[in-house]
Amino acid sequence: MQIIREISKIKSKLNELKIDGKIIGFVPTMGYLHEGHLSLIKEIKNKVDIVVVSIFVNPKQFGVNEDLSSYPRDIERDSKLAESEGADFLFYPTEEEMYPKGYQTSVILTELTSGLCGLKRPGHFKGVTTVVLKLFNIIKPDYAIFGLKDAQQVRVIEKMVEDLNLDIKVLRSEIVREKDGLAKSSRNKYLTEEERKNSLILRKSLLYAKKLIEEKEEFDMIIKKVNRYIEASCGSIKIDYFEIVNFKTLIKAEKKDSEILLALAVYIGHTRLIDNLLLNK
Ligand code: PAJ
Repeated sequence: MQIIREISKIKSKLNELKIDGKIIGFVPTMGYLHEGHLSLIKEIKNKVDIVVVSIFVNPKQFGVNEDLSSYPRDIERDSKLAESEGADFLFYPTEEEMYPKGYQTSVILTELTSGLCGLKRPGHFKGVTTVVLKLFNIIKPDYAIFGLKDAQQVRVIEKMVEDLNLDIKVLRSEIVREKDGLAKSSRNKYLTEEERKNSLILRKSLLYAKKLIEEKEEFDMIIKKVNRYIEASCGSIKIDYFEIVNFKTLIKAEKKDSEILLALAVYIGHTRLIDNLLLNK
């Protein structure tokens, strides 16, 4: 695996491979790799000849009071993991390389970013789409893969690719979980032992909501019940949002919808965790 830090260098290496007819697959990440990230590498490897993983903790997608400076980083460990999973290139640019002095362009989606994490983290998706479009233009992949752990992000990227006519096939990958059900996340590292135990409430509440849907409960009532369930389970958890939305539009779901997303975000102490469940009819 080659580790490349310069945009011009990765562009020319990949251009040569493209001229040779190689199919390029891309896995964008912010590093501190875990099995969720590795499953993306594994999955895309089946489809392509060359796998490019990027690691860039993108400052533009963090709010002022968010965890940019404390976001976990371990490039040594990450490069070993990416290599052992079969990545061919690790693109690991500096901030100056991605956003040189005078940088001023952004990509903004409107409707799909107006709710859920988009509402709670103003500017977050503007940062995500901006960096992902830049990365797409640098790597020029045939395929790119994103995890359903960040379900809104998946829809936002799919829509950007559609709206801007990018020739990239976006793949969706299932959520990878710890044995006890907590979705893997680089941010799980922040949890104390006590908070780690309490974090199981995310998965439990989603399964509770799913059961209520199967019992034909009204969605508004389910939202109330899930809020009460979380509040009763542990006083130190603060619900950021729990919503039942149509996965295509990300607006309030109706019973007839074919793909329904149960989306949950909570604060456990200072740590914000998200999880979701996608129900297909
Ligand atoms: P990051 O949080 O590092 O996640 C990189 C990719 O891994 C995303 O597609 C995310 O959905 C996926 N992922 C994370 N945890 C997962 C899990 N438990 N199971 C399956 N997939 C999981 O998402 C970002 O970085 C950034 O916003 C990025 C797209 C790189 C833009 O900066």
